[in-house]
Amino acid sequence: MKTNTEWFSSWFDTPYYHILYMHRDHTEAEAFIDALFAELKPHKNDLILDLACGRGRHAVYMNQKGYQVDGFDLSEESIQFAKEFENENLRFEVRDMRGNLGSNKYNWVFNLFTSFGYFNEADDDLNSIKAVANCLVPGGKLVLDFMNAQKVAKRLVPEEIKIAEDIEFHIERYAEGNHIIKEIRFNADQQQWRFEEKVKLLKKSDFETLCQKAGLKPVACYGSLDLQPFDEEKSDRYILIAEKL
Ligand SMILES: C[S@@+](CC[C@H](N)C(=O)[O-])C[C@H]1O[C@@H](n2cnc3c(N)ncnc32)[C@H](O)[C@@H]1O
Repeated sequence: MKTNTEWFSSWFDTPYYHILYMHRDHTEAEAFIDALFAELKPHKNDLILDLACGRGRHAVYMNQKGYQVDGFDLSEESIQFAKEFENENLRFEVRDMRGNLGSNKYNWVFNLFTSFGYFNEADDDLNSIKAVANCLVPGGKLVLDFMNAQKVAKRLVPEEIKIAEDIEFHIERYAEGNHIIKEIRFNADQQQWRFEEKVKLLKKSDFETLCQKAGLKPVACYGSLDLQPFDEEKSDRYILIAEKL
């Protein structure tokens, strides 16, 4: 569970994460949700959970489309930001996906933009998928959007500089065991910073095993945000749809 040494407890809570990934914006989120909803056709009265919702870019849009949505995230800063958008059908809470996800039963749980594979303890991957299964109604579905680990591992860009809001981010990527490490160094606010993202290379077959152990059945998968078919060699994303048995 949460300790001070977990990279994802600190990095996502900083303003710098949001600056580096500012291109992952509302326009991208809205196009993705439009594509998913056109394909999956949720019912108007379905209850939706955006798990690891960040500042709520997908949750807010799903709510604007008329749905009742909860958004949970570990980052207190992000949830504080998202709470500005709350209304009677949209609420945000700080919650850890490895733990208790509350008493609501959802028709859909969304976990979007590589918000999985962070944990040091292998059990925590399964604990999180089990927590999802527990909060779905029978027949409810998990929609999980992850990187295509197979392709990412083969085509790693080892070094890159990105400039956003006058900050020069120096990025290094390398594989370490079954993880991809992304080291991020920059100067900002009169300080030198170093953060690390460490994401497990979970493949399609790994997710299928996790689902099977948690009582979820994979029913479809896609390879891009516009829902092209998944190809383990070529696709950038692995988007899994799994149904609670
Ligand atoms: C790459 S961001 C994606 C955020 C959001 N889904 C989006 O697309 O903007 C990953 C998110 O996962 C959250 N997160 C990491 N570990 C978590 C955990 N154990 N429980 C809940 N959220 C977690 C982070 O705080 C962060 O907001």
